[in-house]
Amino acid sequence: MHHLIKEKLPPHLAIIMDGNGRWAEKRSLDRVEGHRQGAESVRRIVRASREIGISHLTLFAFSSENWSRPRLEVDALMLLLRNYLETELQEMLENHIRLMAIGDLARLPQEVQTALQESVKKTAQGRGMTLTLALSYGGRDDILQAVRRIMSHGRDGNLKPEEIQEELFSKYLWSRDLPDPDLLIRTSGEMRISNFFLWQLAYTEIYFTPTLWPDFTREEFIQALLSYQNRERRFGLTSEQVRVGDG
Ligand code: FPP
Repeated sequence: MHHLIKEKLPPHLAIIMDGNGRWAEKRSLDRVEGHRQGAESVRRIVRASREIGISHLTLFAFSSENWSRPRLEVDALMLLLRNYLETELQEMLENHIRLMAIGDLARLPQEVQTALQESVKKTAQGRGMTLTLALSYGGRDDILQAVRRIMSHGRDGNLKPEEIQEELFSKYLWSRDLPDPDLLIRTSGEMRISNFFLWQLAYTEIYFTPTLWPDFTREEFIQALLSYQNRERRFGLTSEQVRVGDG
């Protein structure tokens, strides 16, 4: 049993799943074996998130920089992804999980795009939890594609510079259908954002853990959520202002 307070769960939880390679290297295994175990961790944490009652879970599964990894590793990751989509569709449907994908999806192999489109379409009615996979995603890419589209709308004459407010800008990001993340978890001991959500993380609480992603258990996941529940989010205000606003 855990002591999580349902009302204080982070509505949107994002995770940078790092350390698959090191997990494998520590065991003298191929890096791909680390990713395979990483995919098992994905299954475990998606299941736990749904059970606990998280509304939006976003997983940074493949960055725009990851394309530069050795060809064999990229291919293996794409295959794991496809396999994940195929094996989990039924469970997603049963658990009312809605799958979404964000990123430069056109760069993904055609088979992955097709599998994604199919899962996204079939799960579109899911209201239990939104699972978003960030694939071929880069935070700077996201901001740039938003700026490009805003500029072309401006040129077409229906958007004035003063209309470009935060809310409007957010609607041009790939994450337009998601609220900003409340909590970001990064495994493997690296303490950086690595070009994940840049705009979106402005007020996000961050939880870093040295645990490698394949070793990230349900118990530690609950620890991370408990740590979040014990924090005071001030959004730039004073502690007193926040407490008055609460009551
Ligand atoms: C980081 O570990 C992880 C990735 C680059 C890929 C994440 C992919 C998965 C967890 C599996 C497939 C995804 C799904 C959704 C089924 P790393 O290789 O950077 O680790 P290292 O820093 O120790 O080398």
